[in-house]
Amino acid sequence: MLGLKGRHLLSFQDYNKSELMLIFETTRGLERIAAKGKTFRPMRGKVLGMVFLKNSTRTRVSFETAIYQLGGHGICLRGEELHLARGETMGDTARVLSAYLDAIMVRTHNHWELEEMTSQARIPVINGLTDKYHPCQALADFYTLLVKKGRLEGLKLAYVGDGNNNVTHSLLLGAAKLGVNIHIATPRGYEPDSEVMALAQNTARISGSTVKLGTDPAGAVADADAVYTDVWVSMGREAEGKERLRDLAAYQVNSSLLSLAKPDVIFLHCLPANRGQEVTDAVLDGPNSAVFVQAYNRLPVQKALLGLLLRGEDLLEEMNSILNQEILSPPRG
Ligand code: CP
Ligand code: NVA
Repeated sequence: MLGLKGRHLLSFQDYNKSELMLIFETTRGLERIAAKGKTFRPMRGKVLGMVFLKNSTRTRVSFETAIYQLGGHGICLRGEELHLARGETMGDTARVLSAYLDAIMVRTHNHWELEEMTSQARIPVINGLTDKYHPCQALADFYTLLVKKGRLEGLKLAYVGDGNNNVTHSLLLGAAKLGVNIHIATPRGYEPDSEVMALAQNTARISGSTVKLGTDPAGAVADADAVYTDVWVSMGREAEGKERLRDLAAYQVNSSLLSLAKPDVIFLHCLPANRGQEVTDAVLDGPNSAVFVQAYNRLPVQKALLGLLLRGEDLLEEMNSILNQEILSPPRG
């Protein structure tokens, strides 16, 4: 048994391929139980705190719904309501929250703030987005790819746009771990963090996948199984807005660029999108777009993540026992 119980999720760096695949298999199991209309409340009595120092639609609602539907309770804690706003440290906040809660999800600015919280927390801490990583998003992204394509190994994922943000960094590490070939096209000056790039390249050598970085969108998208983009101005980078829109203007994902990919390419975006900037309406709403399934998948994937971090092996035993009953029970009628 792979031990996920009690672990944190700060980035994919701390998880190996088998552990990531276990999260996806557990997601499938939970989805099968839900599809049968069966009640499964493995998180009864568990409370998740969700600290938000930046805005959120998907992360907030999918985490709160996930814990509720599994029988637990979520508390949304906005930064300005907490004493963080008047100087209480992230570390002290984490120590106090650890006494009340079973897990904390945190969305904050600097990755070191999350690391400070984690160093003082006595319960699992989940990264709900920092400036450096967005692992929960990437979990849903690779799960979407797996469901849509039936496999991950050997697929080509093209990322076009701002190469130096949280989403790109998590995609890089995830692709390298999971054996997905990733090709990034970004202008000079927007390359991924060099430490993350080196980590991804070293990891890819082990998994046998390729990590490529260039400036040419057409080269990246050629024969891709999936094309991904994100906003050009991430939260916290608004001051560079004008410059970014100018520098990234040639990196829009539009129908003509997408036509260079495989005919059955899927288009992915973490959302929210700035329609008409990094992606056109025709692509976002077009037949290859998987963005709303991808957004939905945050919910089941995070259910699996919460279940594994909080209940570990017990969750798997209870889930498998429900699924086995279903297989063993004689057909009705
Ligand atoms: N993709 C994502 O994390 O969305 P929110 O910012 O709405 O949570
Ligand atoms: N890169 C984006 C992702 C939003 C979900 C940002 O940080 O704003």
